[in-house]
Amino acid sequence: MRALDVLSFLAAAVSLATPVIGAPASCGTGVAGTAAPGAPYWLESIKHQGIAAFNPTPSSYKVFRNVKDYGAVGDGVADDTAAINAAISDGVRCGGGSCDSTTTSPAVVYFPKGTYKVTSPIIAYYYTQLIGDARTPPTLLADASFTGMAVIDADPYIPGGNGAQWYVNQNNFFRSVRNFVIDLRNTPASATSTGIHWQVSQATSLMNIVFEMSTAAGNAHQGLWMENGSGGYMGDMVFNGGKYGMWVGNQQFTVRNVTMNNCDTAIYSIWNWGWTFQGVTVNNCKVAFDLMTGGLTQDTQTVGSVAVIDAFISNTPIFARSSTASVGKLAGALTLNNIHLTNVATAVGVVGGPDLLSGGTVTIASWGQGNVFSGTSQTAKFTQGTIPAPNKPSVLLDSTGRIFSKTHPQYADVAVSQVVSVRDQGAKGDGKTDDTAALQKVFDTFAGCKLIFFDAGTYYITNTLKIPAGSQVVGEGWSVIMGGGSAFQDQNNPKVMVQVGNAGDEGIVEISDIIFATQGPAAGAIVVEWNIHSNQQGGAGMWDTHIRLGGAAGTNLLAGNCPSGSQNPDCSAAFLALHLTPQSNAYLEGTWVWLADHDLDSGGSKQITAFSGRGILSESAGPVWLIGTGSEHHTLYQYNFFNAANHYMGLIQTETPYYQPVPAPPAPFSSNSAYHDPTFSSSQTSAWAVTITNSKDLIIFGAGLYSFYSNYDQACLDTTTCQTQLFNIDSGSTVSVYALSTVATTFMLSVNGQGVIPASANVNGFQSTVTSWTR
Ligand SMILES: *[C@@H]1O[C@H](CO)[C@@H](O)[C@H](O)[C@H]1NC(C)=O
Ligand SMILES: *[C@@H]1O[C@H](CO)[C@@H](O)[C@H](O)[C@H]1NC(C)=O
Repeated sequence: MRALDVLSFLAAAVSLATPVIGAPASCGTGVAGTAAPGAPYWLESIKHQGIAAFNPTPSSYKVFRNVKDYGAVGDGVADDTAAINAAISDGVRCGGGSCDSTTTSPAVVYFPKGTYKVTSPIIAYYYTQLIGDARTPPTLLADASFTGMAVIDADPYIPGGNGAQWYVNQNNFFRSVRNFVIDLRNTPASATSTGIHWQVSQATSLMNIVFEMSTAAGNAHQGLWMENGSGGYMGDMVFNGGKYGMWVGNQQFTVRNVTMNNCDTAIYSIWNWGWTFQGVTVNNCKVAFDLMTGGLTQDTQTVGSVAVIDAFISNTPIFARSSTASVGKLAGALTLNNIHLTNVATAVGVVGGPDLLSGGTVTIASWGQGNVFSGTSQTAKFTQGTIPAPNKPSVLLDSTGRIFSKTHPQYADVAVSQVVSVRDQGAKGDGKTDDTAALQKVFDTFAGCKLIFFDAGTYYITNTLKIPAGSQVVGEGWSVIMGGGSAFQDQNNPKVMVQVGNAGDEGIVEISDIIFATQGPAAGAIVVEWNIHSNQQGGAGMWDTHIRLGGAAGTNLLAGNCPSGSQNPDCSAAFLALHLTPQSNAYLEGTWVWLADHDLDSGGSKQITAFSGRGILSESAGPVWLIGTGSEHHTLYQYNFFNAANHYMGLIQTETPYYQPVPAPPAPFSSNSAYHDPTFSSSQTSAWAVTITNSKDLIIFGAGLYSFYSNYDQACLDTTTCQTQLFNIDSGSTVSVYALSTVATTFMLSVNGQGVIPASANVNGFQSTVTSWTR
């Protein structure tokens, strides 16, 4: 180093060591964690003052519970089962079989680092997040004497109940389990010891979990067991040993970044309508994907569709195997993209049959089993072979050529002093005080300087809340930001409720564990307008963050005033739920954009008729990643891509409103060309699930687009005619569609408003499935 350099180096070091008061160097670029080595996760040590605003006794009901406050020891010796379950069930909670759902008793159950021995299941009640120390994930150690369904059970069977369970599996919402090691190795290898019984639905997640299981030959351990439900997202998990890593059946799911080592079967799937697996690593197993297939009717439903992108499989004799051969017709669709095999004898095989694709040490670029369509041809080409590959714009890929992904940020290295509580800053979160000004002040003061923590609560706002570039926002057990009042009522003058960045803003924004909601009537609310653009991949994103419209305490859109079939336009919850504007980009993982079809607080899932004009509108030029997203029951469309480009989507899930075609869309809203509404011909009497106009390089890698009713009648399911068309692509767009499953629509895909792919040609269980459609 030359002398001059030494001087400038010293000067730089001095300026680094002397922070400028009031303007930390990290402002705007994300909080740089300063937690001391060995310090607990900030979530453990912050002031715990979250409330459940609509609980009957909000002043005494505790949202945050530390298992150690309930007597858990965490030394690996004491039996902590009772203490952990006491922490979960404290207060009046929703469980036991007598409560189907409620939004009024949420809980965050926190586990400091340690080893918690359990002898029977930890029962995760409705609306519960189980969170371990993100810095040193605690171990849940199943004792040798362990008995019961699983170490964590999200939907217990009622003993002697003839299969009855605590919750309806398709309505088992709002669950998350994070940051654990689940260790089954002390239990007998011959026992069907299970890590997690995860029979759940939308707005659920598993993340950062390691399952340790027996490696004895013939052992019966399993990491995850899921027999049905309607998910959901899960990711960032490692399964070591076991008979099964994941044993799964559920309508649809998105799985990202899972690794299986030394198991018999990495993933066994009993049934589904469509699952997408993104980033799967399997080492030293016997079979990576073992799929039960062959059931072509609702009653015999087996695996409808599995789509795998970016997999690395090594030293495993079989990559994918079906139980029944697909000979000339569907029996389980398979879609493979960018699959790397190392010492894998069979790439795709059938039990007892010859290989369909032999393995070795090879890369499979794009391969499919099932019906392949292109352009406007109505004729399926049954394929077991190479299928057209999508164009993958490099902006969507990471440095190794995989679809980019970003884990739900947990800010493990942030110090307590770097977290600012919105309640400490004057916001009330009680569901009635107008918190607009208090929240705006928090963002204006601390965006980019502090981690902005929304203590549990419902924060009522009456005007636009602006979340500026640089903001990192974390909720507690899904803190709710709820807009209401006169500002949001006029559909002819729609108003933004939460505005993320201004058009043209560059920077990061990260939002997790938040719910955006409205208080009705709110026919003019644009619930979230997303303008932020980040030059960092995934710098602008939301994780485990949902838009929930109506159907929950405080929304005024409930079974009492908006009963099923009531057709009251005052039961409107939104003009548009989520708008990705032209200059924005976004990474959304596990985002559920739901206009409620039933009242979660009615004690028994009573259906309601409420209205939300539009689901997700993207005009973004990208990159946009929609990983495990859903949009349901909006009047005009669930997803609308207009002048959009560079989107990766897997899996997207939709449902059409149950009341349609009475009235037919756009009623009770009117079309608004400023928001690029699709037009509705006289024959289009139900919402579009997906509509794509003038867009480029959109990749849909898994879709489940469902229509279950016609004016609340389900007779149309039998004839697959609940609606005629639901997925339209105009002739000017370049889109690649894989693993498309639909329910009860006559046409699965349309071009320029004309039905192209008939569902009847692709029946594959309850749903119809197409392996790929390209131009
Ligand atoms: C869920 O799956 C289990 C196991 O396959 C089955 O016995 C049960 O009937 C299913 N329940 C529902 C409601 O579909
Ligand atoms: C995948 O998950 C593992 C386990 O949680 C984690 O260590 C790793 O960083 C994740 N990788 C990606 C690309 O997200």
